[in-house]
Amino acid sequence: MNRRDFLLTASAAALLPNVSRAMGQFDLFAEAVEAQILPTGEYSATRSFGFNGGLPGPEIRVQQGQRLDVLLHNKLDEGTAVHWHGIRLQNAMDGVPILTQDIVNPGSTHTYQFTPPDAGTFWYHSHYLSHEQVARGLMGPLIVEEANPPDLDHDITAILADWRLDEAGQLTDDFATMHDVAHAGRMGNFARAFLPDLLLKKGARIRLRMINAAADRVFPLTLTGLKGRIVAFDGMPLAQPREFETIELAPAQRVDVIADVEGTMEISMATRSGNYSLGQLATEGDVEPRSSEIPALPSNDVPRPGEVTQELTLAMQGGAMGGRHGGDNIWAFNDLSDLQSAPFGRFQRGETVRIRLVNDTSFPHGIHLHGHHFYEIQRGGSLGDLRDTSLVQAGETQDILCVFDNPGKWMLHCHMLSHQAGGMKTWVEVL
Ligand code: C2O
Ligand code: CU
Repeated sequence: MNRRDFLLTASAAALLPNVSRAMGQFDLFAEAVEAQILPTGEYSATRSFGFNGGLPGPEIRVQQGQRLDVLLHNKLDEGTAVHWHGIRLQNAMDGVPILTQDIVNPGSTHTYQFTPPDAGTFWYHSHYLSHEQVARGLMGPLIVEEANPPDLDHDITAILADWRLDEAGQLTDDFATMHDVAHAGRMGNFARAFLPDLLLKKGARIRLRMINAAADRVFPLTLTGLKGRIVAFDGMPLAQPREFETIELAPAQRVDVIADVEGTMEISMATRSGNYSLGQLATEGDVEPRSSEIPALPSNDVPRPGEVTQELTLAMQGGAMGGRHGGDNIWAFNDLSDLQSAPFGRFQRGETVRIRLVNDTSFPHGIHLHGHHFYEIQRGGSLGDLRDTSLVQAGETQDILCVFDNPGKWMLHCHMLSHQAGGMKTWVEVL
């Protein structure tokens, strides 16, 4: 974070524009917007991209098992496409230009219809020139509600993102510069959480859904004013709620926390120059706190791994200090940059595959698989958390186990979107 430019904190929280309970067909307009990213009063609005007049886009809420029918209208001057991140949907609805659909041209529309199988915290974002379109604001939350939600006072979504802004509060258009792409990506000089406008009561029990919608930034998060547990990662409930002190959230990752309010809730991130406040919700009044434990969420019906039938290695390569790539293809997987005609893996439907994610580079990468969730394998070999994006630190290796049960062509890429733009992407095919 370049503290010289924006020393302020994000306490003047603007609101998520609206919550849309998707019934029947829902219109989603990708368009130019003016959004109050910086605190009101001190700075004017930022000209950017968004959905339905705002940034982030509307919070789309559906019930688990309820069909979502979205008509995307492209009102931008450039193409786009919308990906429903973390949803195990049919391949044709995945929103990836070239692989699963055509680019939605300016002035055209595209229909997305699917029934989310899993309850949890998901999001949607552009998957066309995403390193630029997501960084400009083409993203929003997609919440799939449990049939029997836990007993809570508030269900709160926090979208976390960062922006690179000039002195006038306008976005700089230095996307995918060689330097950013070859390093940790394009970091903003201002970061914040978008939170709803509400006051909390001390003693209330809340669910806080945090979504990292930043293009490249990993957020090392701390929460104050709350006492609770992590109940889900990437939309998938943990069998047991887990204690935490900090939460590291890679781009695209989500975390759900259920907690009791003890004071002003503050979301902050650790930086070299101290804690940086991303947003807060103040308290007014109090209620009798619950005596019950933080509940576990009901699990989603994800296939259990069977016998491993293929073992593959995905080696991340390149970048600054990586010493092998130059030109447009700064990053690679297994010596190949960009989408090749042959997939990285081809699987029969239902195969259990172990993939070793090897980070041979000097930077962390958040590796995302479309259309599936996978288990991270813990050091001792046991099944860890179910995720759709795995953060692999520089020099580290992470094994994952996935049941490839969803037929189609699925992207597998780094969700540091500048790295993806620099070639760090491939695909798999499930027959
Ligand atoms: Cu969040 Cu390939 O996407
Ligand atoms: Cu990366």
